[in-house]
Amino acid sequence: MTDENIIISKGLEGIYIADTTLCKIDGANGKLWYRGYPIEVLADKSSYEEVAFLLLYGHLPKKEELKVFTQRLISERDVPDSIADIIRNFTGRTHPNDILRTCVSAISAFDTDMADRSSDANMDRAIKLTAKMPTIVAMIGRYRQGKPFINPSRTLSHSSNFLYMLTGVEPDKESAKLIDLMFILHAEHGSNASTFSTLVTGSTLADVYAAVVAGISTLRGPLHGGADEAALNMMRAIGEPDNTETYIEDALAGKQRIMGFGHRVYKAYDPRAKIVYNYLKSFMQKTTDPKIEKLLEIAIRAEKLMEEKLSKTKGIWPNIDFFSGPLYTAMGIPSELFTPVFACSRVVGWTAHLFEYWENNRLFRPLDHYTGQLDIKYVPIEQR
Ligand code: CMC
Repeated sequence: MTDENIIISKGLEGIYIADTTLCKIDGANGKLWYRGYPIEVLADKSSYEEVAFLLLYGHLPKKEELKVFTQRLISERDVPDSIADIIRNFTGRTHPNDILRTCVSAISAFDTDMADRSSDANMDRAIKLTAKMPTIVAMIGRYRQGKPFINPSRTLSHSSNFLYMLTGVEPDKESAKLIDLMFILHAEHGSNASTFSTLVTGSTLADVYAAVVAGISTLRGPLHGGADEAALNMMRAIGEPDNTETYIEDALAGKQRIMGFGHRVYKAYDPRAKIVYNYLKSFMQKTTDPKIEKLLEIAIRAEKLMEEKLSKTKGIWPNIDFFSGPLYTAMGIPSELFTPVFACSRVVGWTAHLFEYWENNRLFRPLDHYTGQLDIKYVPIEQR
């Protein structure tokens, strides 16, 4: 191919990398399906355990299948003692997502047969990571607050157990539904940046742990999974609801990005954001905490202004990360844990994609277009 014919697709925009039966995003119309089921239906009727099973095994579980799968997750909630030591060895400066990444890497040391790459062994690893990551994140959260770790419950659901291990309080019915909803909505989302890096790592036939660590690392940035933390920081910087419009207008005039808005694929309202927004509006009527009330009002006013300024004109709509922060805050989750919580949910999407890709694996090896000079004369160091 001559240089003139080279087409560079920055950010791989518009490039398809694989066939999949996991997830369909209709970006133009703001629709999303997991394994063919509309996200609204799963959000309303399902549980995270059921959705995790659906993503990993390809079908909704029968009662007995769900019972076995749920028990399996419960039995894997504990983490080795050395994970606690790793968490204690980090300073408060380290971001929890970076600590999670290190702990997941360390979990691989407890795999008794890394050479076994059978589908069953890999599924086992995915289930173990899904079960253990919330325990690790809750431990990180507790340690940062100077509080003792809490052992996992054997009776609470996957997501409720996470809140319990983090806050020490069993969530009420409403918080339990909300955290489960957030876990469901974050579980899968096509070939987003972190899933893609999971696949790139997996395509070298590196192991499940390595691929998940790549996913966790990629999730961290504010253009991807870090956007919810960044959006909440912005809401905190706005401070008072009456400052919202001026703050956003100044930010846009200064060409700043408003975190939690915009998406490479959605050019309509992100359906996950719509679900969370509706929830947020009803939550606002019930909350009695003035701090949460303020955050919710700022989020709602910012959404309204952005709709006038950018959504209708430039197709930059809110994504799920814009509304997550105030709700997580209401549930007692500190902002620096938002991205690791996202990882706890997305691990099933990452691993399900990995297993699907491995069925027909091919090494990712794209090209870059060299624009530098060639055959430059080498000058010895003494003469440079
Ligand atoms: N605020 C203001 N302007 C924006 C925003 C935003 N949040 N997002 C995009 N734009 C503008 C951007 O400045 C550019 O304008 P212009 O054409 O005048 O230079 C135009 O829209 C296209 O931007 P882009 O960066 O080329 O678009 P992209 O498809 O590469 O960006 C994105 C996608 C998510 C990185 C971007 O919208 C963004 O930075 N959003 C804020 C971060 C965020 O919320 N990320 C979470 C995404 S959803 C969760 C997930 O799946 O990870």
